Amino acid sequence: ATKKRVFSGIQPTNNIHLGNYLGAIRNWVETQDQYDNIFCIVDLHAITLPIEPKELHSNIRKLAALYLACGLDLSKCSLFVQSHVHQHAELSWILNCYTPMGWLNRMTQFKTKAGEDMESVGTGLYCYPVLMAGDILLYQTDMVPVGDDQRQHVELTRDLAQRFNGLYNKPVFTIPKADIRTAGARIMSLADPTKKMSKSDPNPNAYITLLDDPKTIKKKIGRATTDSERLVTFDPARPGITNLLTIYQALTGQSQQHIEAEFAGKGYGDFKAALTDCLVETLAPIQQRYHELISDMPALEGVLKQGADEVRPLAEKTMIKVKKAIGL
Ligand code: ADP
Ligand code: NA
Repeated sequence: ATKKRVFSGIQPTNNIHLGNYLGAIRNWVETQDQYDNIFCIVDLHAITLPIEPKELHSNIRKLAALYLACGLDLSKCSLFVQSHVHQHAELSWILNCYTPMGWLNRMTQFKTKAGEDMESVGTGLYCYPVLMAGDILLYQTDMVPVGDDQRQHVELTRDLAQRFNGLYNKPVFTIPKADIRTAGARIMSLADPTKKMSKSDPNPNAYITLLDDPKTIKKKIGRATTDSERLVTFDPARPGITNLLTIYQALTGQSQQHIEAEFAGKGYGDFKAALTDCLVETLAPIQQRYHELISDMPALEGVLKQGADEVRPLAEKTMIKVKKAIGL
């Protein structure tokens, strides 16, 4: 039997953080043997909000090195940059023409990201979910492993694929499914545990990046918002400590009961020290591999070129079906 196809992506907007790792990359690595994997650095998504050219260029390379440092194996996946495969932009335009405005009006991420800036924000931010749908549908994807924040966008992708297939009465697109794991699916901000941990957060103490050094990790965990109680327990009424415990749980793989027993009779200080050690230990080998990879830029560029060469024929095959269906 042929393996199911997995597609997922991350924006090269900033250093990736613990939420991206626990909610996305770590899961991709864990199941890479079971699937036929395509992982994308979605640079066309990154330009939906203003970004410095130099920063974007360097973030793309850094992200590629981090993906590999986290354990993606190039014999089991294709790793490439979205803009290197022009079919992403092409399919996105076509799908825009089949996406009702009402569907996009219901997307919550647009509202959060645009904020009060509705008049001047680029229309690319509004059409972002359609570009994402194109990314997924281009490769006849079966499964999309993402964090909980992307659930709505994958639903839209399914609706769009069904609408298009129905309209032309042909199975042009495979209907994909979201694959959202429970542990780590939603890591919250360290500064405000009612918001998700995000790369675009203006407060750098709100997230831990995969490249933070031990001193920085200690400082950020030390400052992380908790409450005035002392109980180290999972409790939705105390989102700060619960978020830190969720991170600890995702890193150690232990049950809630086991963790609560470990810290029974201890305070937040003891727990934060244990969490810091655990984070430093998890990130040290990733950082070491990252520094090796990023110091050989020609090799990294070669990896990205090869990845694009691997997926381009698949993308073109879908575009031929799409154009034929439409009559283009
Ligand atoms: P960000 O929102 O930080 O810019 P991306 O949009 O690039 O991150 O998302 C990359 C992947 O990381 C997606 O699969 C997304 O669902 C996941 N992800 C992002 N933030 C979190 C979070 N706080 N907790 C868990 N997963 C997350
Ligand atoms: Na590969």
